[in-house]
Amino acid sequence: MNSHTIQNKITVLDFGGQYAHLITKRIRRLGVYADIKHPDVSLEELGRPGGIILSGGPSSVYAENAPPFNRQILGTGIPILGLCYGMQLIAYFLGGEVRRLAKREYGRAELEVTGHSPLFEGLSRQELVWMSHGDSVASIPGGYRSIGKTSDCPFAAVSNEEERIYGLQFHPEVTDTPSGSRILENFIRICGLERNWSMEGYIEEKMKEIRENVGSRNVFLLVSGGVDSTVTFTLLNRALGEDRVIGIHIDNGFMRKNETAAVKEALDRLGFHNLVVVDRTEDFLRAVEGLTDPQEKRKAIGDEFMYVKDRELEALHLDPDRWLLGQGTLYPDIIESGGSRHADIIKTHHNRTDMIKEMVARGQVIEPLDQLYKDEVREVGEKLGLPCELVWRHPFPGPGIGVRVLCDRGGVSSEDFKEIRSRVREKAEPAGYEAMILPVKSVGVQGDCRTYAHPAALDGPPDWEKLELLSTDITNEITGVNRVVLKIGGGALKPLVSKAATLTSDRLDLLREADYQAMQVLREHGLYAEIFQMPVVLLPISSDCVKESVVIRPLRSSDVMTAKFYRMPVGSVEEIARRILALGVIEYVFYDLTNKPPGTFEWE
Ligand code: XMP
Repeated sequence: MNSHTIQNKITVLDFGGQYAHLITKRIRRLGVYADIKHPDVSLEELGRPGGIILSGGPSSVYAENAPPFNRQILGTGIPILGLCYGMQLIAYFLGGEVRRLAKREYGRAELEVTGHSPLFEGLSRQELVWMSHGDSVASIPGGYRSIGKTSDCPFAAVSNEEERIYGLQFHPEVTDTPSGSRILENFIRICGLERNWSMEGYIEEKMKEIRENVGSRNVFLLVSGGVDSTVTFTLLNRALGEDRVIGIHIDNGFMRKNETAAVKEALDRLGFHNLVVVDRTEDFLRAVEGLTDPQEKRKAIGDEFMYVKDRELEALHLDPDRWLLGQGTLYPDIIESGGSRHADIIKTHHNRTDMIKEMVARGQVIEPLDQLYKDEVREVGEKLGLPCELVWRHPFPGPGIGVRVLCDRGGVSSEDFKEIRSRVREKAEPAGYEAMILPVKSVGVQGDCRTYAHPAALDGPPDWEKLELLSTDITNEITGVNRVVLKIGGGALKPLVSKAATLTSDRLDLLREADYQAMQVLREHGLYAEIFQMPVVLLPISSDCVKESVVIRPLRSSDVMTAKFYRMPVGSVEEIARRILALGVIEYVFYDLTNKPPGTFEWE
């Protein structure tokens, strides 16, 4: 491509946090392709996008560790929109002044539109906007004018119409700014970009690209059953034909009930019979034998997976010159493993082992979803004809129910926590709840730290409003308690004791069945799509040291970083409890009332 040709896309420069991904998704939803680059990208690597957006970020322009920025970008003549930190950066580099606010401005604010600008076309004079900043522009560079203010912020929006450079102190990319999409649309128009990015177009183009890149070679890939790998497999099959693709599904014994069969069946229905299922349950069970520590279990499962995977690949005797490795890596993983902050270590771990990194360097890996976000992958899946249940399936952790069957050395009792219990009781009893401390630990998250503490169990009516306040109060105020659950099934709450328990096939089958029953209720009651994810966890605790207990953890979330417990209709709660108790070996069923933070999704 000629270096002067303007590409029909917007490039977002990532100054940290989650902002850049949010902006990129928003722009794509408006029909223009957007990608993410580092703020110190060279002009050569930047190319000629039709527009540039400087994202917000947690830093201050004066901070020593502020992300390095290639200021030449401001002189390229490409239209620029700086958001929050991005706006402050423009002011800072072009001769304005940025000042620390006495108090951070956070939340909704009323914007008064004070000047005419194509960026604000179609907006009212007063608009609600969402702010989150500790620094603020105190004076603007020459050539700029203020086009909007809030009561706390005289320069909430600035523009230089001649240069087509704009700055907004607020965040148009979040839904809390109702006219945010309108502003981004206006920016797209200012850039002169066509809104023609669509999933159909993407799929067509991607299939062509796959055929070109693969050439006369073939592709094999691991299909976990999750949406990413299933969509990748389907796309490769469509592009290359099933004779040139092999999918391997390794059953590690930690899958959900019927999961493997469901994936195989869906693919069969699409006419693809090239998925090989290998059952390695025994190997995985051996790898975790006798383990009770959560981290040791996770590591053992992860290591075994790598080992089994390499062995399966070797067993196929595929000539590396003729076979490429396909992977369902998504755009956020690519951006994060490219050296940006906050890498999702767990996930990048699987898609970027040393062996795979070497293969990437040799051009032996193909990742057709590497420009897409999860919701876009789902759209591709639907357009390729995969069934809705599979495409919209809740996320499932790599180690599967291996992290949902809690293990223990046994011998711990609720009675060992009398002091904490009395503190919980002081809060619970006036609200009408009996309280108990569960003799197992669960993981939680506070700030950037993981906590490892005991859950408090409450017994009383499922009054969600009251319980949310109580749960927050208990976890905030009582050290040693990081979760609160409500008893939803079983007799009166008696002191509980933990029993020695490891990952055995009996316990895995028991949880598989409890999970299946709970998920069935969600489906039958039309609640599945309302819930982001619902871990069902087996706890080796009971009053008689024989039975076990189960906790369900329905959550609503948009980004997994934070979540709220879901307030399920009481009839459905009772039905889930009834079906789990009917399995005969469960003494109590609990309902997790903990938001994230302080509780993580998973219990270990
Ligand atoms: P947490 O428990 O950290 O979970 O709040 C956030 C999301 O990550 C998933 N998760 C995992 N995924 N391997 C994975 O592939 C893991 O070890 C793992 N642990 C948690 C969890 O299910 C949720 O979607």
